[in-house]
Amino acid sequence: MKDESTLVVVAYHSGYGHTARLAESVRAGAASVDGTKAEPVSVDGITEEEWALLDAADAIVFGSPTYMGSASPEFHTFARDSVKRWQLQAWDGKLAAGFSNSGSKSGDKLHTLEYMALLAAQHGMLWVSLGLVSGWNSSTSDENALNRLGVWLGAAAASNIDEGPELMHDSDLRTAEHLGRRVAEQARRRHGVEMARALYEMKGDRTDERT
Ligand SMILES: Cc1cc2nc3c(=O)[nH]c(=O)nc-3n(C[C@H](O)[C@H](O)[C@H](O)COP(=O)(O)O)c2cc1C
Repeated sequence: MKDESTLVVVAYHSGYGHTARLAESVRAGAASVDGTKAEPVSVDGITEEEWALLDAADAIVFGSPTYMGSASPEFHTFARDSVKRWQLQAWDGKLAAGFSNSGSKSGDKLHTLEYMALLAAQHGMLWVSLGLVSGWNSSTSDENALNRLGVWLGAAAASNIDEGPELMHDSDLRTAEHLGRRVAEQARRRHGVEMARALYEMKGDRTDERT
C-alpha cells in the first residue's frame, strides 16, 4: 500500500523574488494540512532529482511571474521539457493548480493562469481552482480581503514594480497560502478514497480465500 502522506510540489520560477515569496506561502499552506509533505522546486535549472519529486507528487502547483502577458521564458522552458512526461502521460490524474504575480493589478496574469491550466490539461492533470469569492468588489470590502484581485482560476498577486518582495501585499500572500491548503486538502481527500478502495479490495481478496 502507498505511503500514508501525500506530496504537494510547488514548481515555480521567479526572476526578482516576488513569485518565490508566493511559492513559499503556497508551500506553507499545503504543509499545514495533516499528512501532507510540501516541497518547493525552482524550475530554473531543475535537476533530475527534482523531476523525480514532481513524478512522485500527488499534486503540482505551478507558479510564474507574468512577463509580457504570459509565463516567464524560464517557466516555458520547464513546460517544454515536461514533454518527456507528456509522452508517457506520466502525470495523468495528479492534481494541479497555479499562481502568478505581476506588476499591474490585472497585468494580463489571467492569461498566465490559463496557460498553466492548459499545460495541466495536456498532462491529463485535474485542475483545482482557488475556491474563494471576489474579496474587494463592494463599498464595504477592502483590499485586505482574501482574493482582493478577484481571480478564480488560481492565486493572483500584484507587486509594485519599484518595490522588493519584502513589501508584497499580505492579502496576496494569504491568498496563496489558501490555495496551497486547498490543494493539499483535495489531495488528502483523494488519498482517503484510494486507501478505502485498497482496503476494500484486500477485504474482497480475503473473502475469496474463504469461499
Ligand atoms: C520582461 C518583463 C515583462 C513584464 N511583463 C508584465 C506584464 O505583462 N504585466 C504586468 O503586470 N507586469 C509585468 N512585468 C512586471 C512583473 O510581473 C513584476 O515585476 C513581478 O513582480 C515580477 O515577479 P518576480 O519577482 O517573481 O520575477 C514584467 C516584468 C518584466 C521584467
